[in-house]
Amino acid sequence: MAHKQRLLTGLQPSGTLHIGNYFGALKPFVDLYTEYESYLMVVDYHALTTMRDPEALRAAIFNIVRDYIAVGVDPSRVVLFKQSDVPQHTELAWIFECLVTVPFLMQAHAYKDKVAKGLEANAGLFNYPMLMAADILLYDTDIVPVGEDQRQHIEYAREAASKFNNAFGEIFTPPTEKIFEGVGVVPGIDGKKMSKSYGNTIPLFGTREEITKAVMGIVTDSTGGRPETVYAIHALFRDAQELDVLYENNTNNYKALKEALIEDIEAVVAPMREVRNSISDDDVRTILANGAATAGERAAEKMQEVKARIGVTV
Ligand code: ADP
Ligand code: TRP
Repeated sequence: MAHKQRLLTGLQPSGTLHIGNYFGALKPFVDLYTEYESYLMVVDYHALTTMRDPEALRAAIFNIVRDYIAVGVDPSRVVLFKQSDVPQHTELAWIFECLVTVPFLMQAHAYKDKVAKGLEANAGLFNYPMLMAADILLYDTDIVPVGEDQRQHIEYAREAASKFNNAFGEIFTPPTEKIFEGVGVVPGIDGKKMSKSYGNTIPLFGTREEITKAVMGIVTDSTGGRPETVYAIHALFRDAQELDVLYENNTNNYKALKEALIEDIEAVVAPMREVRNSISDDDVRTILANGAATAGERAAEKMQEVKARIGVTV
């Protein structure tokens, strides 16, 4: 059997997921990960560039692990771990920081955006791309599934690999990004892009009441009987032909259409919500401990090679 390619991605432990996140990021990951030897990492040290509330960070870590398992990630088929549990990530990041230049890091979008807004960037944010490069390169990753906004970071990882390889010999594989494009942008209840920063979301793991409230609030602007935003969201949950019949039979009956949408969302979300509620804190701890053991072993091996190459082993 051919050797499986290696896939790795990082998850920011922040906020509550919405259905835009589900169709734009979680579902595509679930559909993909078993074709690869997959690594899924909670990037808690990256989160520290912005978070200052330990209880909130801890809760967000538990949540993101539960979220991914609830949507169908099987922890026995992926190395699911937390970045801070594998110290080689920060160790390798330091080595890359010694190889790239300050002007190069100053071109990074996340840093530039912060400075452009007149905010003071911390040194962690400045070095963020090199920690991400270490995340990826430690595991000889071939494929990195990410959103479009992360494209530049993968270029930075390739640059770190090439800087190291040129200086010390070829030991790092240049990774390739895999940008999910299929679903496009899921609209929020106001018709703009659904985003937690716009407060226009339908929560993925909300209660039935919360989902109902959000759906009933969807704008019903239309150019001919069909409420386009309701329809666009509905199309994610139901086959197009069935949907067209439903919308033709209910022209201008927005309430009936929204009620149908609530049922269709519930049919997908209710089973996931149940799985999510069944996962205890201890289950999460066990999953992360197992993941850290596997990832740690591989990272330690790679780091030995790195250290020998740069000349710090005696
Ligand atoms: P938000 O905009 O709510 O802050 P994030 O930027 O944290 O969401 O996005 C997390 C992931 O979910 C990314 O991969 C992003 O591409 C995807 N995503 C977020 N919002 C949408 C949306 N409205 N439609 C499709 N994908 C989305
Ligand atoms: N920067 C990524 C984001 O904000 C998260 C991330 C950190 C990541 N390390 C990674 C993604 C490694 C892919 C691979 O979404």
